[in-house]
Amino acid sequence: MKLLIHKEKREIVDGREHIVGDQETYFIMDLSNDVQTKYGMISKEDLKKPSGTVVISKSNKPFYLIDADFIDVYKRFKKLPQTIPSKDIGLIIAETGIDKNSLVVDGGVGSGALAAALARIVKEVISYDVREDCIATAQENYKLAGVTNAKTKHQSLYDGIDEINVDLITLDVPEPWKVIVHAAKALRVGGFLVSYSPSIPQVQDFCNELAKHDEFFVVKTVEIIERLWEIEGRKVRPKSTGIGHSGFLTFARKIKL
Ligand SMILES: C[S@@+](CC[C@H](N)C(=O)[O-])C[C@H]1O[C@@H](n2cnc3c(N)ncnc32)[C@H](O)[C@@H]1O
Repeated sequence: MKLLIHKEKREIVDGREHIVGDQETYFIMDLSNDVQTKYGMISKEDLKKPSGTVVISKSNKPFYLIDADFIDVYKRFKKLPQTIPSKDIGLIIAETGIDKNSLVVDGGVGSGALAAALARIVKEVISYDVREDCIATAQENYKLAGVTNAKTKHQSLYDGIDEINVDLITLDVPEPWKVIVHAAKALRVGGFLVSYSPSIPQVQDFCNELAKHDEFFVVKTVEIIERLWEIEGRKVRPKSTGIGHSGFLTFARKIKL
């Protein structure tokens, strides 16, 4: 798999720098056919050239050819339900300190986006989901990205967790408070329970239920806000497009048997 990248072009007009021409990226899975771009065709022979080569389209525009990495495939995962964005995944990884020895239980698997990102770091991820179509999509995505240490179970997390000595449990389900009693049994002491929910009433019910379980210490609830900036010559300012909401993350830690 390869990427073809046409960089935006900058020109000085009347003493000011302007962007002329769009940045375009093409993700190529099939290298055996020519690729049609907005700026003309790139031949299949060119696609076979080494990563880092500059290839020229039929309309004489330069494209950078690079090998696709995990993140390029990941960004193009087939999505069934809404996935957790990378800004939130980053915090889960940083706050829980998971590593190559960690066992993670996750659910619902959805499209497998969170599970695949975590599987890159940990020993094994086992995801639960009640929907067979989500499990099939997640497995399809794992295959595409070469993820081999993420497994799926067609089971409800509300009914229990089979695994024990788990280092991290990540929840992205409509009623996460129903999983707390099972998480208390499955986690090792010191392990983390992290719940991601788009709406505050879910967070409220989850935290109120957590408060009834003295096995858990609530670390924090956060919302990560990512603000994009525009950098163009002396025009340096936040982008005028709005800041979208994704979800709230609640981190809790098991502190007793
Ligand atoms: C928003 S999606 C999860 C997205 C996922 N975190 C990702 O990054 O791709 C929520 C998923 O939870 C699943 N789900 C709902 N109730 C569940 C339950 N009781 N146990 C396990 N999964 C459940 C749904 O079928 C759906 O696939």
